[in-house]
Amino acid sequence: MILNSPTLNIIYKACIKAAKPLMRDFGEIENLQVSKKGPGDFVTNADKRTEKIIMDVLTDSKPDVSFITEESGMVENSSQKKFWVIDPIDGTTNFLKGIPHFAISVAYMENNEIKSGIVFDPIKNEMFVAEKGLGSFLNNKRIRVSKQKNLKDAIIVTGGPNFSSKIKNKTFDEYVEFSKNLDSPIRKLGCAALDVAYIACGRLDGFWHNELNLWDVGAGAIILKEAGGYIEYIHDKPTDVFKRKVLASNYLIHEDMKKHLNLNL
Ligand code: 2AM
Ligand code: CA
Repeated sequence: MILNSPTLNIIYKACIKAAKPLMRDFGEIENLQVSKKGPGDFVTNADKRTEKIIMDVLTDSKPDVSFITEESGMVENSSQKKFWVIDPIDGTTNFLKGIPHFAISVAYMENNEIKSGIVFDPIKNEMFVAEKGLGSFLNNKRIRVSKQKNLKDAIIVTGGPNFSSKIKNKTFDEYVEFSKNLDSPIRKLGCAALDVAYIACGRLDGFWHNELNLWDVGAGAIILKEAGGYIEYIHDKPTDVFKRKVLASNYLIHEDMKKHLNLNL
């Protein structure tokens, strides 16, 4: 770990410990894919187990810090201001189908501000790491967002809507309208945490997604900011903490993205 940060060191330890069994589980998926039962329950268990390993490591080091996680929801410890924000497997559908593009995402939040985060893709062995004021790194190398200024030439990524979404049509309409401003087709890679991390290292230029939760992009947010990018949460009701619209970019195309998503209200 290149960054001299006690918080990142703890997150790092948790990610590395959780990744080993997760990789074994992923190896099992292929067999389950063709079995009668399918891998559904197996994946739910992998999700839960991964989350437990991460939570145990974090709790051992800092028992006062509370949790906001995908599987366990809100778990309150003595601190009401300090949270670990965890998505044990971001890109669950990819994982379930044996597609090697998913990540563990762990962030540390204090007074509603994300301070540190790691997004770890164990298959490609790519670890994105950042802490406020210390910069953003991919496998110990400093990363920066792209210099793309023109939305037309930008590579944009999105995701959703999922099956239970109540705003499916709105999301599809947005997709169609937004596509008209781009030369390259919009990407859908299926892992929001990696989408945002890929903007941080200049592989992609912009991202928007409806109905995301804090754990999907918590770590990604600090990784992107420290790499010079911009991330914004837009929601209809200011009280909505979850299921938010997220807009993230290399900063240079941000206003244009907003304009074409009709967000300059
Ligand atoms: P998950 O795999 O942890 O569920 C796919 O578009 C990406 O968005 C994945 O990272 C997925 O995370 C995340 N996601 C979370 N909530 C979603 C939702 N309600 N609809 C679509 N995608 C969602
Ligand atoms: Ca997720």
